[in-house]
Amino acid sequence: MSSFVIFLLTLLSIFPFRQCHGRLFTFEMHHRFSETVKKLAGPLQNWPVKGSLQYYTQLANHDRFLHGRRLFKFDGPLTFSDGNSTFRISSLGFLHYTTVTLGTPGLKFLVALDTGSDLFWVPCECGRCASTDDPTLYSSDFELSIYSLNGSSTSKKVTCSDSLCTDRNNCLSSNNHCPYSVSYVSSETSTSGILVDDILHLRTEDSEEKNFVEARVIFGCGQEQTGSFLDVAAPNGLFGLGLEKVSVPSILSQEGFMADSFSMCFGSDGAGRINFGDKGSFDQEETPFNINPLHPTYNISVDQIRVGTTLVDSGFTALFDTGTSFTYLADLSYTKLSESFHSQVRDKRRPPDPRIPFEYCYDMSPDANTSLIPSLSLTMSGGGQLAVNDPIIVISTQKTS
Ligand SMILES: *[C@@H]1O[C@H](CO)[C@@H](O)[C@H](O)[C@H]1NC(C)=O
Ligand SMILES: *[C@@H]1O[C@H](CO)[C@@H](O)[C@H](O)[C@H]1NC(C)=O
Ligand SMILES: *[C@@H]1O[C@H](CO)[C@@H](O)[C@H](O)[C@H]1NC(C)=O
Ligand SMILES: *[C@@H]1O[C@H](CO)[C@@H](O)[C@H](O)[C@H]1NC(C)=O
Repeated sequence: MSSFVIFLLTLLSIFPFRQCHGRLFTFEMHHRFSETVKKLAGPLQNWPVKGSLQYYTQLANHDRFLHGRRLFKFDGPLTFSDGNSTFRISSLGFLHYTTVTLGTPGLKFLVALDTGSDLFWVPCECGRCASTDDPTLYSSDFELSIYSLNGSSTSKKVTCSDSLCTDRNNCLSSNNHCPYSVSYVSSETSTSGILVDDILHLRTEDSEEKNFVEARVIFGCGQEQTGSFLDVAAPNGLFGLGLEKVSVPSILSQEGFMADSFSMCFGSDGAGRINFGDKGSFDQEETPFNINPLHPTYNISVDQIRVGTTLVDSGFTALFDTGTSFTYLADLSYTKLSESFHSQVRDKRRPPDPRIPFEYCYDMSPDANTSLIPSLSLTMSGGGQLAVNDPIIVISTQKTS
């Protein structure tokens, strides 16, 4: 029996996470005519002449806008009606899943949580969906649901004239069902169908008695899936947590249910939590997002990397993406980090093996002292420290003799 270590970065597997859409919620006071207030009100090229009726109308609208952002229906966090737990399913990759309930009567879906995309979709009125009746595909004993508009008394069609309908090129008339189509980074993986409006079942997290909350959200009725969505990843839907307007957290805050934030926490055993509208734990570290207003993503900056005893002076930016199993670094950072790691490893490097998609692999004796494997930590922009929980993968191999 011998085993070897594959070095690669499964970074950021525990990282208390907070969405703030690039805005900080502080309590500064501003004069209502001040530049800051005008800036908050949005595009100002067309502000009416100061003192005119239109000017005051606009100011009043804008008060409502600011107001709408501060007064939410619920003070405390909300979570899914089935609870805040997230989990990994070994037969379904490294993704984190949770159970959500949609429609009336409520139907449960086991969805993957993805900060790397925006749309929430579930399999629905299937042309091509993951098989629901092949128990060998998934070792766990959950059932896959399929949504249908007819099956839910609260479902509504989202028409081509809806502001969240972005795929209008394929619309025949403004009253048609809004079509959608999303392709993902994984090769050949996509979903397409029509947008639907229905109730997502949530509940309050803080209060003694759990209040159930019915929030209308927009999601994709996924009629045609391709690639990994047919088997290994998200066979029962994907819950996009991105920053665009169509994501569920954006809709919930836009509708005034909660503050524009959420937190997720993943433990090393794969168990985790998710809450909407909360501010995370008081002792968590923070780092700002690099927001591109045209296409906002959870783009973060790492200023420094510590590998074992060595400080690697190579900053980089990266997308924080819970929908990707591994962390990918661009060069120069990758080369600097991996060379520094390699120079500190005491085990013998394995020759390249075409079956293994990783560059640095080592033979490790069964009684190896794992505390000698170099540790890895990141200094995020702003100074926050992130110790990478488990930067290596250990693969046991049976000796064939
Ligand atoms: C998650 O839910 C459990 C059980 O309801 C509760 O005890 C716990 O405080 C919740 N966790 C968070 C982070 O809200
Ligand atoms: C939904 O119901 C309508 C009216 O009964 C029917 O025409 C349509 O085929 C049904 N659609 C599905 C997908 O069952
Ligand atoms: C992240 O943000 C940086 C700085 O704004 C930018 O250079 C980089 O291209 C962004 N990365 C991605 C993947 O969007
Ligand atoms: C492993 O290495 C650490 C650091 O050198 C040492 O303190 C520890 O005693 C070693 N453990 C074993 C079981 O050899």
